[in-house]
Amino acid sequence: MTSQRTQVAIVGAGPAGLLLGHLLRAEGIDAVIVERQSADYVLSRIRAGVLETVTTGLMERLGLAERMRAEGMPEDGFNLADGERLIRIDIFGLTGRRVTVYGQTELTRDLMEAAPARGLEIVYEAADVTLHNVDGASPSLTYSKDGAEHRIEAAFIAGCDGFHGPSRKAVPASAGRAYERVYPFGWLGILADVPPCHHELIYANHDRGFALASMRSPTRSRYYVQVGLDERLEDWPDDRIWDELAVRLGPEAAAGITRGPSIEKSIAPLRSFVFEPMRHGRLFLAGDAAHIVPPTGAKGLNLAASDVAYLSEALIAWFGRRDPAGLEDYSRRALARVWKAERFSWQLTTLMHRFPDTDAFGRRMQVAELDYIASSEAMRTAIAENYVGLPL
Ligand code: APR
Ligand code: PHB
Repeated sequence: MTSQRTQVAIVGAGPAGLLLGHLLRAEGIDAVIVERQSADYVLSRIRAGVLETVTTGLMERLGLAERMRAEGMPEDGFNLADGERLIRIDIFGLTGRRVTVYGQTELTRDLMEAAPARGLEIVYEAADVTLHNVDGASPSLTYSKDGAEHRIEAAFIAGCDGFHGPSRKAVPASAGRAYERVYPFGWLGILADVPPCHHELIYANHDRGFALASMRSPTRSRYYVQVGLDERLEDWPDDRIWDELAVRLGPEAAAGITRGPSIEKSIAPLRSFVFEPMRHGRLFLAGDAAHIVPPTGAKGLNLAASDVAYLSEALIAWFGRRDPAGLEDYSRRALARVWKAERFSWQLTTLMHRFPDTDAFGRRMQVAELDYIASSEAMRTAIAENYVGLPL
């Protein structure tokens, strides 16, 4: 067994773990990340791509925003479609801020590539990561790699290992509580090298179900359609997806759709989940390890970013001046923002999807709410300020 000491051991090299590692290294704090997958595997995962200013601000602060500034697409607004018309949410006009379309994969790549030069050690393909003594004075984690066993001792452990990782499971059931809602449908996503159908995102609620038109660049589009949980990818050849998108997104968007072969296709379930508290002893949870939002609203990555903004600030205060206040307040502070984003994501999901048990009255409620949004600047402002990101 080899043994290593560091100040903060981080489990998971997704956006949460990578951002946290860099924020700590920028202040001279030692951190090591252990990641179960290979670097290539991490970069092959396709995830959402709408960044709030909290997230772009962290990349700027780290001096890693160059490519994001050059290739990211600032967006002034987005649209809700009700089957026929587009209801524009003028994000910039209503809030004075913008979101940036830049794929999570690209952000992850920027953070990964900068790690060696900044002294951020990442151990990829670390198997059997196990946390020890998280509620004692000297926590540690063990893992195996290439047939050898390794131990990392740390002052703190950051659990940034996503929904299925071991960190949250290291908290005894009696010390936490989970809140969950599983939605009775999924999103079928398609990525294609064709120009987007519209210059802004469109979230559509059609009688046939939800659809989303999004993008990665002026030449790469990302689309989704709501599907039942029992549906299989084989039943959705590309043409069927394009046909369905053209109907659900409405006539204006349909006229702009360029079809092309899919380069990625997958079905993802939708879930809302929060685990409280986000701290147990010397273990701190951040990102998907502590909470999941349905993708409607694109809050997943942005919540991971705000968690690690709070957590890095707390750890920097601790290592710099032994000030424990930030660490003690971390869970409360992070959860206050998490619950508001959970509310927004749930609300937008509920407004925009067909639920198997939605009766005619429920459908009329959706239509009436969309109609109200179209006619009320107050409603659009509430949506815009949540979409662009609530303050830290
Ligand atoms: N040991 C080590 N690493 C692990 C383990 C384990 N047993 N289990 C999971 N991991 C790694 C995963 O392989 C992944 O790279 O933890 C990482 C968690 O990353 P994400 O799932 O991306 O979660 P997070 O960093 O919190 O990012 C949140 O990004 O991935 C999206 O949907 C997510 O949008 C959300 C945001
Ligand atoms: C995406 O581009 O993949 C995307 C955009 C917005 C969302 C979800 C996903 O709300």
